[in-house]
Amino acid sequence: MRRRARPMFFSAGLILLFGAAVVAAGTPPISYTTDQAARGRLAYYEHCAECHGGNLEGQIGPALAGPDSRTQWESGQYVFEYTVAMMPHGDPGALSATDYIDVMAFLLQQHGIRAGKTPLAKAAIEAETAPLGP
Ligand code: HEC
Repeated sequence: MRRRARPMFFSAGLILLFGAAVVAAGTPPISYTTDQAARGRLAYYEHCAECHGGNLEGQIGPALAGPDSRTQWESGQYVFEYTVAMMPHGDPGALSATDYIDVMAFLLQQHGIRAGKTPLAKAAIEAETAPLGP
């Protein structure tokens, strides 16, 4: 009995390790760079802050981060597509495609998602279905 038990535990361990690696590799977290977020912050102050507040706390428009924001239970995909189609309110499409991506990187940063090495790209944010978090 004893002798057989060991290889079984060993293979069980390997399977667990393999499973963990697959889960870790399965859904890479959304990534953006600190440069994108820094540019996005400037674009946010230029195009969004007057209505959404200097700290995204909301003014005429709703809060975009923090406990009061609805964005915390919307996906990155939803927020990005909504922003491109509807924002700035009354003047949608006023930003360049790059500026919209940069603003999105800034929003991800404000939602506590950490910067990485891979820049945020349109395809990646459009595939991001997880809620943004507060
Ligand atoms: C002129 C004011 C104004 C400006 C400028 C503006 N917004 Fe808005 N925004 C609003 C209002 C008002 C709403 C709510 C619209 C509604 O519910 O129909 C809104 C809603 C949103 C939402 C949805 C929030 C939610 O809780 O559902 C997002 C995301 C957003 N804005 C992002 C932006 C971004 C990013 C910019 C800058 C590129 C921007 N807005 C510029 C007024 C503005």
